[in-house]
Amino acid sequence: MTAHAPRHLLAVTDLAATDLAALLDAAAAFKADRAALGRPLAGRHVGLLFEKPSTRTRVSTEVAVASLGGHPVVLSAGELQLGRGEPIPDTARVLSGYLDAVCVRTFGQDRLEGLADHGSIPVVNLLSDAEHPLQALADLLTVREHVGALPGRSLAWIGDGNNVAMSLATAAAMLGMRVRLACPPGYAPDEAALATAQRAAQAHGGEVALGTDPAWAVEDAVAVATDVWASMGQEAEAAAREQAFAGYTVDEALLDRAAHGAVALHCLPAHRGEEITAAVLDGPRSAAWDEADNRLPTAAAALAWVVGTLPGDGVQPQAGVQPQAGAQPQAGMHP
Ligand code: CP
Ligand code: NVA
Repeated sequence: MTAHAPRHLLAVTDLAATDLAALLDAAAAFKADRAALGRPLAGRHVGLLFEKPSTRTRVSTEVAVASLGGHPVVLSAGELQLGRGEPIPDTARVLSGYLDAVCVRTFGQDRLEGLADHGSIPVVNLLSDAEHPLQALADLLTVREHVGALPGRSLAWIGDGNNVAMSLATAAAMLGMRVRLACPPGYAPDEAALATAQRAAQAHGGEVALGTDPAWAVEDAVAVATDVWASMGQEAEAAAREQAFAGYTVDEALLDRAAHGAVALHCLPAHRGEEITAAVLDGPRSAAWDEADNRLPTAAAALAWVVGTLPGDGVQPQAGVQPQAGAQPQAGMHP
């Protein structure tokens, strides 16, 4: 085995701010030309494990692996002994013998950390209860496409202070954006997650502020983001949440209070009439469909980062994944 430690993407803070910016550029290059990132996964096998349902993440990541020349091995919890209680450390050790990287959608962040700690291959978070880093990348690429350069621009989050909220807030802050989150009392982000986002803001000239008033949050915002009121695993709380989140719907009146030209973001799937109206989601100010499209290029760029082949990265090949001859990214595509 190589002496180099595998590079993991478990949380957005696993990326340096410079990585994040390079990754968005690489995603844009891949979007323009699917050959732009080369075939760094040629001859390699990448596990995609799902302990929760997925449409966008499942399909975009599988296509991204294949587009980079790799072979995706897609498994759901019910097909794995993991689903019958086989310990994470044993699973990590065994999978490291077959696969070159593993991407996982799961519940606790500790499950991802366990796979990273006990395996010898890169681990990528495809959504946990705490984070959704690949979604944040797609969100920021989408905002950049719609409104241009991100530093100094404002972004609003309306609703639950959840996994998607905190990955996006932290990533946006790392790019110097000002983020305001309006969450109902009792549904604010986890304190540690908020502190992480605020530290990122402090380090990179951004801002992250928490309040309860959607109208305050959208002042000057170039993007207004939301997500479901009850995430996967919170189904039993749905009725209570529906009551608590009254007044936190992203509708046309709220968007009218944001910056001129502001777009609405939603990671999808959406509940029209709850966290977002149909008029907004299906209307001209919705960027949600571009956001979904952008899951593919950002997943490809993230995988290239994990294996150390993003243009300009200069990282040595990672444990498990050894880029092969002819697998270099094309020269000159990094702006
Ligand atoms: N946005 C998102 O992660 O969608 P899926 O649950 O369909 O993967
Ligand atoms: N917050 C949602 C996002 C789904 C893509 C969830 O975790 O279920």
